[in-house]
Amino acid sequence: MPRIGILIVAAGKGERMGGTLPKQYASLLGQPMLRRSVQAFAEVPDATIQVMIGAGQDELYRDAMAGLDLAPAATGGATRQESVLRGLEVLAVKAPDFVLIHDAARPLVSRALIGGVIAALEAGADAAVPLLPVADTLRKLEDGKWITVPRSGLLRAQTPQGFRFAAILRAHRDHAAQEVTDDMALAELAGLKIVAVAGEETNMKVTNPEDFAVAEGLLSARLGEIRTGSGYDVHRFVPGDHVWLCGLKIPHDHALEGHSDADAGLHALTDAILGAVGEGDIGMHFPPTDERWRGAPSWKFLDHAVGLVLRKGGIIVHCDVTIICERPKIGPHREAMRAKIAEILRLDVSRVSVKATTTEGLGFTGRREGLAAQALVTVKLP
Ligand code: CTP
Ligand code: MG
Repeated sequence: MPRIGILIVAAGKGERMGGTLPKQYASLLGQPMLRRSVQAFAEVPDATIQVMIGAGQDELYRDAMAGLDLAPAATGGATRQESVLRGLEVLAVKAPDFVLIHDAARPLVSRALIGGVIAALEAGADAAVPLLPVADTLRKLEDGKWITVPRSGLLRAQTPQGFRFAAILRAHRDHAAQEVTDDMALAELAGLKIVAVAGEETNMKVTNPEDFAVAEGLLSARLGEIRTGSGYDVHRFVPGDHVWLCGLKIPHDHALEGHSDADAGLHALTDAILGAVGEGDIGMHFPPTDERWRGAPSWKFLDHAVGLVLRKGGIIVHCDVTIICERPKIGPHREAMRAKIAEILRLDVSRVSVKATTTEGLGFTGRREGLAAQALVTVKLP
């Protein structure tokens, strides 16, 4: 089994994208683009993943990769070529047999394409590069005149580009002075045996602002499985002067009893999300016997459940929470509750519903001994 290094270059500034955050850290359907690009390689057996990041981006990187088991990132250079060379030097310590070099800006790469590149290397190629034909007619301005460039025979190169590790490291070192835009160009200069594999139109390079919407559309199309989850929770009224409900502190002539902040609305919602992805219930993740959760704000539980969905590559589509009580009156707080939940779920507020009902004086909620909440969520998974 060959040992494979995966080098992901993410040290660019994303100047064509604009915006305050470098594009590789911007969210693409709920997850940073770089995280998606790295996760695309999660199934490669025996791989060492090395990510190259820009100077001063350590914190952005840590946040983007939270929970993933990765070697520390290293710092890239002023050009992509420099970032790759530095990355190869870091990987050289491990001396892998092959290396796949991939742009963080291509988060949609498929397992099939990655497998195709590895297979070509295993079959004896020095270099394996995904290529695609050009569909548009090409023109260029020459001496003030437009001329058509025949497109037949022209191909577009994508990443990941795969190489025998020692050969591409040597090519990068030997030709560092020559400016190129990808690693295949260096493989050519070094006279390596290059094999083409079929690229994928969907393996787009996210470059300009409009590319984000296209990439999100392609990702959405991969989310074929629709799941629904339900949750229910009850807390008892005790003496006090406020309750927590749907993430808000609401003045009331009683408080709610509980180990955490007793926010029945967020607890029901957390259980609904856990239910949709088959991850047990809130008590399993946050046992009431655990002192860490005494008085804890319940948005932490909800945030954890959202993280589980994202880690599965899924998204939350919508939620509907119903609070069942005589008092406090929910109506005056409804919009603020929706906004709070939307913030925690990272959803547009139009996808969040909060409703309330009484039980006409019947039962424990009718007798004002406590209140109940129920929730439904819809989740999409790959
Ligand atoms: N890259 C890098 N180091 C650099 C420049 C680019 O690691 N000095 C990486 C980018 O982060 C990206 C990949 O190379 O994942 C391809 O580059 P590109 O799409 O051009 O990204 P940016 O250079 O960030 O964007 P721009 O050219 O618009 O500034
Ligand atoms: Mg660039």
